[in-house]
Amino acid sequence: MTPLFIGLILLALLALVVVGASTRRRDTNSAIGQLSGETVKRDRSPVTVGADSDTADTGSAVTGTAVEAAARANPAGSVVPQVEQPPVVYVPPDPETIGVNRRQFLNRAIIGAFGFALLAFGGAVLAQLWPRPQEGFGAKLNVGRVPDIKASIQAAGGFFYYPEGRMWLTEYPATALAKAPGSYSFYPQVEEGLQAGVVALFQTCPHLGCRVPECQTSQWFECPCHGSQYNQVGEKKGGPAPRGMDRFPMSVTAAGELIVDTGAVIDGPPIGVNTTGQEAEGPNCLSNSGGH
Ligand code: FES
Repeated sequence: MTPLFIGLILLALLALVVVGASTRRRDTNSAIGQLSGETVKRDRSPVTVGADSDTADTGSAVTGTAVEAAARANPAGSVVPQVEQPPVVYVPPDPETIGVNRRQFLNRAIIGAFGFALLAFGGAVLAQLWPRPQEGFGAKLNVGRVPDIKASIQAAGGFFYYPEGRMWLTEYPATALAKAPGSYSFYPQVEEGLQAGVVALFQTCPHLGCRVPECQTSQWFECPCHGSQYNQVGEKKGGPAPRGMDRFPMSVTAAGELIVDTGAVIDGPPIGVNTTGQEAEGPNCLSNSGGH
């Protein structure tokens, strides 16, 4: 049984609970028409009918129970004196009375809020359980054999762009490996790639989301939007970005192929992390870097 199937069953059960609760509320509404104790008491007490102030007729006192008994004994006859009544003056109903009252409003608001929360929860569950793409961005991509990747990086001047994964691949220097475990909280997720000498960086700037291009002269990444700068392995060097470039988990197969999981973006290292010590190797591409 797949996780998606289990999630759908859970959603169906929750929907049944909501439907059951609303049905029960409708059942309860049917009891609203029952007579209250006060009404029953008044029904049993005598009521004077047929009184007429013009003729000084004081009428006769009858009870509801007596009227019912007389009606059963003589179904065809009238048991209540027929009295001429003046027409009742029409009084328009209070709009608030015939509209949605407070109890109805609260009931609907609670059910609506619960339904909305259920939908949001269901959406989140489905989003978690939905099968991940098998190819393209969001999938685990086999980028190729590590030596071939390194050759591509060097042929591209130090920065190899891999569009299917929306990522940059650069070399991770062996001299920096000793610092990486203590500097990267996410080290276990990238360890195999770093040990193989590569790093897979998400192309999106962690400041406000621009695509970060490489700068061939400085051998850094330099964001044209607000001037954030990162060294060749994505550690922040300047500008308003809150951290280094985000990156992806990496693993290396027994055949030496690099697998990059583009469905799990890792936050970049904090400001100040500098495992490679790489300074700008030439003029920066952005002269006004360092702020908004
Ligand atoms: S989006 Fe890159 S520095 Fe602002």
